[in-house]
Amino acid sequence: MPTAIVLREHGGPEVLRPEAISLARPGAGELRLRQTAVGVNFHDCYVRSGLYRTLTLPGIPGIEAAGVVEEVGPDVADFAAGDRVAYVDARYGAYASHRILPARLAVRLPDAVSEADAAGLLVKGLTAELLVREVHAIGPGDTILVHAAAGGVGRLLCRLAVHLGATVIGTVGSEAKASIARAAGCAHVIFYRQTDFVARVRELTDGRGVAVVYDSVGKDTFAGSLDCLSVRGHLVNFGQASGAVPPFEVSRLAAGSCTLTRPILFHYIGQRADLRNLTSRLFDRLATGVLTAERGTTYELADAAAAHAALESRAADGPLLLSP
Ligand SMILES: NC(=O)c1ccc[n+]([C@@H]2O[C@H](COP(=O)([O-])OP(=O)(O)OC[C@H]3O[C@@H](n4cnc5c(N)ncnc54)[C@H](OP(=O)(O)O)[C@@H]3O)[C@@H](O)[C@H]2O)c1
Repeated sequence: MPTAIVLREHGGPEVLRPEAISLARPGAGELRLRQTAVGVNFHDCYVRSGLYRTLTLPGIPGIEAAGVVEEVGPDVADFAAGDRVAYVDARYGAYASHRILPARLAVRLPDAVSEADAAGLLVKGLTAELLVREVHAIGPGDTILVHAAAGGVGRLLCRLAVHLGATVIGTVGSEAKASIARAAGCAHVIFYRQTDFVARVRELTDGRGVAVVYDSVGKDTFAGSLDCLSVRGHLVNFGQASGAVPPFEVSRLAAGSCTLTRPILFHYIGQRADLRNLTSRLFDRLATGVLTAERGTTYELADAAAAHAALESRAADGPLLLSP
């Protein structure tokens, strides 16, 4: 019997409870998947808590998973039963053992990429990819600041930026995470819970500031991130792990003719061609060893609550997966 985590109310991790679900046959343009690995992302925590009201309740949360095609619907030419695929779905539904998926969202996995690798990497890796090119083209000689540099997206972002020739300053919350950030290529690591990171960034850059700040922490770091920018610097706020960023005076950007963007992965993979391009770039990074898929921690699907608690505790090391 297919099962899924069904969100019936917003709240803490305990509102994530498994239920039996029924599944129809795939319709035109659809696949039926047996899912083998589901990725857990911070986005899922925002949806569960109600910070994001983007999932209609009751509903099945989760934006990424990998598995095997069980059946294809009419008009599906690109996929066949037995294909191994992964996907990112902005409409949710990933926290399930089985599901119906529009074939246009599916990405075929290369032999070298396991389903667990894909489910742990797709959202975070695609995000890191678009942050270093489409959102801000990183190049040799750039000095950049990455907050939560040891996090899931953070460590991939650092690796890519270093590969592209940048000097990376990373902030982290603990000594253990400092080692991860250094291993990801950070030339300088700042313990931003104890140290004034703005002063330290100014010191490390001879007062100039950095060309770009990648800020996924949000409320606690946003104002400081603005103060770390060089003239014509770019603040990329792509997450809010510490809470939503409060309103701010746009005129603050005038201090250095700075720019601010708030990118969302879904808007960069909405077209099938864009999804294909970005995914093949990510798989190339794996094939060439620029990025590696890390072995994460796997929880039973029914224990999704424990996975959320681990992610929100800041203690997670590596990707978190659910096993249906
Ligand atoms: N815009 C997009 O399309 C997009 C796509 C993917 C992810 N994201 C965002 O990117 C961020 C990172 O996602 P991820 O899945 O890779 O998570 P993650 O970075 O592995 O975890 C979040 C990290 O944020 C730091 N943090 C700072 N203050 C925190 C607080 N009050 N509570 C919890 N964590 C706090 C922690 O690192 P320290 O302990 O080192 O401080 C924590 O490990 C999230 O905000 C996520 O929503 C955005």
